[in-house]
Amino acid sequence: MSLWLPVLLALLISALGGLYLLGAFRRRRPKEPPLDKGHIPWLGHALDFRSNSVEFLQKMQRKYGDIFTVLLGGYYFTFVMDPLSFGSIVKEAKSNFDFTHFAKQLVARVFGYHSLEDEHKVLETSNKHLMGDGLVIMTQAMMENLQNLMLHSIGTVKGQKEWQYDGLFHYSYNILFRAGYLALYGNETVRRMGSKEKAKEFDRVHSEELFNEFRKYDSLFPRLAYAVLSPKEKLEAERLKNLFWNMLSVEKTTQKDNVSRWIFDQQHFRQEQGMAEYMQDRYMFLLLWASQGNTGPASYWLLLFLMKHPEALKAVKEEVEKVLKETNQEVKPGGPLINLTRDMLMKTPILDSAVEETLRLNTAPVLIRGIMQDMDFKMADGREYTLRKGDRIAIFPYIAVQMDPEVHPEPHQFKYDRFLNPDGTKKADFYKNGKKVKYFTMPWGAGLSMCPGRFFATNELKQFVFLMLAYFDFELVNVEEDIPPIDQSRWGFGIMQPAHDIQFKYRLRF
Ligand code: HEM
Repeated sequence: MSLWLPVLLALLISALGGLYLLGAFRRRRPKEPPLDKGHIPWLGHALDFRSNSVEFLQKMQRKYGDIFTVLLGGYYFTFVMDPLSFGSIVKEAKSNFDFTHFAKQLVARVFGYHSLEDEHKVLETSNKHLMGDGLVIMTQAMMENLQNLMLHSIGTVKGQKEWQYDGLFHYSYNILFRAGYLALYGNETVRRMGSKEKAKEFDRVHSEELFNEFRKYDSLFPRLAYAVLSPKEKLEAERLKNLFWNMLSVEKTTQKDNVSRWIFDQQHFRQEQGMAEYMQDRYMFLLLWASQGNTGPASYWLLLFLMKHPEALKAVKEEVEKVLKETNQEVKPGGPLINLTRDMLMKTPILDSAVEETLRLNTAPVLIRGIMQDMDFKMADGREYTLRKGDRIAIFPYIAVQMDPEVHPEPHQFKYDRFLNPDGTKKADFYKNGKKVKYFTMPWGAGLSMCPGRFFATNELKQFVFLMLAYFDFELVNVEEDIPPIDQSRWGFGIMQPAHDIQFKYRLRF
């Protein structure tokens, strides 16, 4: 008996420990938000959340109101659904809400990248190259690469005025991905290729290969992030990661011309900190993902909305023509290619509004922070709650504000001028319960983790639409075809993708 007692005790303790870890003993404490653990131990509501986050969160919101805690795969997430209360989360000190710990775990799992201690500082230091003066250079690089991909056949037999057919999603994503990649990671050198034309051709072929592989990884991504890949898919994800680490390696990148300062600095800082080169290669892939996974799909939605709303297309086209005229540029057979500078892109309020509206309708990141200590949390209406150390606090702006009919009337409609005042200036006044909503749309996130590429991404989208309008006729093959539905598996990761493509045709205007 004396021998069995410790064994039984050990079994009992580990069983209780297991139940504790599965969340069986957690109860809502006074002043805590409503708690819903679901019926499956540890997983909680993870399956419902994964299969359709929007439906799940709307259901929870109807049941509990605008703050509640749910169990998702071993973690307790407190969702705040009141946009007027977002400021308290976004601006809270790092000592209370931390973004980096969660992000480090995710990138280790999804990209095999193990972060530096002061990882975020390195990123912040390099981000200046995506803003301000740095953006002038980036815009120019993007322009040259867009021209190489979209306009290289002008004046050739191949470039004559026949309709080309493609899936709109495939076409837009392909062009934006490849031009963005070349603008950031550099071009093939004339020295190696023998001539400028050959180097440009190499860029076109090589970026196409990269895009095709990227799309394979992209389609695995949501299930990879949720760690639910089948063994075969896991092998494929490993193959793809290795391929990208190799294609984007520091060794290869340093041989390129025109590598952006953003990429250069990121790599350089890591090298200085003594990071192993193979880990730097992994980081290069992480940056490719962050920088190229969203802009392409966004450009698809933007072009599609413009085609589906002739009044919007007309207004944007007139604006494009006006800007060209003001800079004495004209698209004409045999004439020089137009040069779109950052200054020109700052004179397009209508296009700006159309871009913002596109992002409002289709960008749906979940913003997450780790709760670092037991603390009080005050909602905008004065209600106070306590939050527990080790839980996570989350915002899903897509439902909480972007689709709120009080903030944005007829929220499912594309209104190209939603973000314009009657006098044509940018509109930033939106209200809920009579109060001004500061975070009225949040495609870029907010606070410390806000997207540093937002100015560059907006420029990329505008440059692409500008060139499409200036150089091409384009229309849907079947103008009656409905806008394809959204692929529900991607909620929470950024820009949504369509469940299937839609065919369109395009041809050079001369
Ligand atoms: C339409 C295009 C884009 C959208 C909608 C978008 C959206 C976002 C969002 C929502 C986040 C924050 C995620 C979070 O808080 O957890 C983010 C982060 C980030 N984005 Fe973007 N992004 C876009 C394009 C770009 C581009 C073009 C670049 C770079 C050139 C870029 C670089 C990054 C980086 C490096 C981060 C991580 C920031 C950090 O950890 O602090 N993004 N993006």
